[in-house]
Order: sequence, then C-alpha cells, then structure tokens
Amino acid sequence: MARFPSRTRRIGILTSGGDCPGLNSAIRGIAKSAIHDYGMSVIGVHDGFRGLVENRMLQLDYTNTSNVLTVGGTILGTSRDRPKKMLVGGRVMDMTTVAVKNARDAGLDCLVCLGGGGTQKNAWHLHKAGGLDVLTLPKTIDNDVAETDVSFGFDTAVQICTEAIDRLHTTATSHDRIIVVEVMGHNAGWLALAAGLAGGADVVLIPEVPYDTEMVAAYLLERQRVYGRKFSIVVVAEGAITRAEAAEAEASAANRRKAKAERTAAVDDATDAELSHVSRLVRENLASRLARNLQRLTNTEARVTSLGHVQRGGVPSAADRLLTTRLGVRAVELLAEGVYNVMVAVKGTECAPIPLENVVGRRKQVPLDHEWIRTARRLGTCLGVTEAEWLRLTD
Ligand code: F6P
Repeated sequence: MARFPSRTRRIGILTSGGDCPGLNSAIRGIAKSAIHDYGMSVIGVHDGFRGLVENRMLQLDYTNTSNVLTVGGTILGTSRDRPKKMLVGGRVMDMTTVAVKNARDAGLDCLVCLGGGGTQKNAWHLHKAGGLDVLTLPKTIDNDVAETDVSFGFDTAVQICTEAIDRLHTTATSHDRIIVVEVMGHNAGWLALAAGLAGGADVVLIPEVPYDTEMVAAYLLERQRVYGRKFSIVVVAEGAITRAEAAEAEASAANRRKAKAERTAAVDDATDAELSHVSRLVRENLASRLARNLQRLTNTEARVTSLGHVQRGGVPSAADRLLTTRLGVRAVELLAEGVYNVMVAVKGTECAPIPLENVVGRRKQVPLDHEWIRTARRLGTCLGVTEAEWLRLTD
C-alpha cells in the first residue's frame, strides 16, 4: 500500500555505457523508494538501450534489489548501444521507434537511465525524437558529466587509483624507478588529478593540459639533482596528449572530419561507435611510449602500470553508496511529482533536477583555474608544461 500519492505509476530503469561501482546501489535506492513509498511498479531493462530495443525486461522487487548495495557492476547488464544507430543483423539501423514502442507497450510512464555523457544524449534523443519521458542520473568514473558537481563511480575509482599509486611507490623507491601509471579519463583529467594529488604523484598529466615530454624529463632530473630523489610517480590520464599531438590534432581537425566521412562510407555497416571502440581497444598504449621516452631522456629505469578496468571493479565506496542512494530517492520524489526529462544532479549539498537539454552534448573538463589545479601547482607537482607555457594556456 503506497504511503504517499504519486503521479507516476510505472517506471523502467536501464544502465548504459561503462559499468562502475554504484550502479546497483542506485537501482536499489530507486526501486526501494518507488515501491515502498509510492507503490510504483519498477521494471528493469537488460543491457542498456539494446535490451529496450530487444524488449528484454524484468520486474524489479524487494527480492531482486536486496543485497546489491555492495555489489559492483550492474545487475541489469549494460551496453554502449545507441537507439539511433544500432547494429542489428549486421546493419546499422535507427531503432528509436522500436525502443519507444517497447517502453510504451510495457506501460512505462518514465524511463530512468543511469549513465554518462552518451547515455544522457541517448535518453534525450528518445524524448525529443520519440516523445518518451525520461529521467537520468550521472554515472561515470571519469566525472565528466556536465551540470553536476560529481558523478557516481568517481569516488570509488579515485580510491582504487590512490591505493594502486600507494603500492607503486614501494617498487619506485626500492628500485629508484620512474613509474608511469595510466588511469582512465578519455576526455577529462578529474580521475588522474584527484588520484595524483591523493597518491602524492610527482607528475600529473591530463587531457586539458597538453604536455611536453622533454619538460617532464627536465623536471624529473631536477628532482634527482636538488632532492636526490631518483624515483618518481607519473600519473597520466589515458586521454592526455603531448603539445605536438595537440597542435597536429588542431591542424588536422578538418582532415579528420573528411577522413572519418570517407572511412564511415567505406566501412560495411559498422557504426562510428563500433570503430571508435575498436580503435580505442587497439590504440597504442601512450603510457608505454611516455615511459620509454622518459627513460631515454633521464637515463633512469621506467616501468608502466595501466590500471584499466580495475578502476571500475568491485565494491562501491561508502561515499558512492551514500550518493547513489540519495540520487535514487531524490529521483523517485521527482517522478512522484511528475517531473520528467531532467537529470538529478549533485549541486552542493543537494540533489537537484537539471533540465536534460542543458546537459546533453556538453562535457565537464577540469578548468585550469580549478582549486585542485591550484593545489597541485602550489605543491610543485609537475603538470607537464613550463611556467611560460602555463601562462600562455591560462592568460
Ligand atoms: O566511460 C568511462 C570509461 O571507463 C572511460 O574512462 C574509458 O576510456 C572507457 O569507459 C572504457 O570503455 P570500455 O569499457 O567500453 O572499454
């Protein structure tokens, strides 16, 4: 029996994009509150938007949403599939109509989507193109979803990376080595910066600050000369690039668009997403190249650790469990009021609704005047550029 009135009777939940700790605690927060407080019916959709298109759903209840608070990943499964460009039977097809029809046939008043930037975009597309009401929560270890102070999964990933950096200090000091630690963060350096500060890294390289390898080497040699520290920890985000690569990327942006158009036209039915994913899988490990160059330039042994998907595994931190439970309960309050097509964001000490259209297509990168950047610079942490280059970047 519902404790409170609700304008929403039946919701769906899907998880989309990379998995991360906190997804299940978010599902639990939504389901428990929706069922207990408002008597809503809660339907889980398997494997993100693909499961919606393939009509693979299950009833969520107390039983299958209990004891999941501390379980990593997602009990619903996830995918990176997009309704608008989905690989079906070997062909790229727009499955928007099918997705919306299945949601309506399931009697959903609103589809709750848990995911990162891509998921926000796909959810908004289902609303704009298909008229489906949606509501989203910000999920990604990259912490790069716009309009929210933090995304869930980030805190746990910072803890995982920091513990790894702590352990890597052992081998660095024992062997007087440069240890290059590659962390996730394709487009934003939040994870590298936070874990680098927490783990006491000597160098932190992020996508927002194209770096100069020679300058990093000079910094490490100076550290050896002045402080007698032959060992160093270099934390590099997987999306960090050198200044030369940044200049080349800018110069060839137009050529890249042309090449992408030609490649897409030439490829049999594979989506750009498929290709970009494949290219990401086969991309040269930039951390290895950085380590090799630093070893050459400093005449100091270097080793590489790429933390990869370890950063997304295991039990969510207490902070992420608290955050996802808060976000889930707040989402249900909004659903009960009939508030749709918003992202439930973290704003200071509150969870607040932000119009989804204000989130879509935007990414939250690390501002160069952010307090964490200022903190790193005050500590003397190397960000990969000289003072002169820093002033040029920030003027
Ligand atoms: O989107 C979060 C993220 O973990 C990125 O940091 C990383 O580059 C990407 O997902 C990896 O994607 P996948 O799990 O599909 O290899």
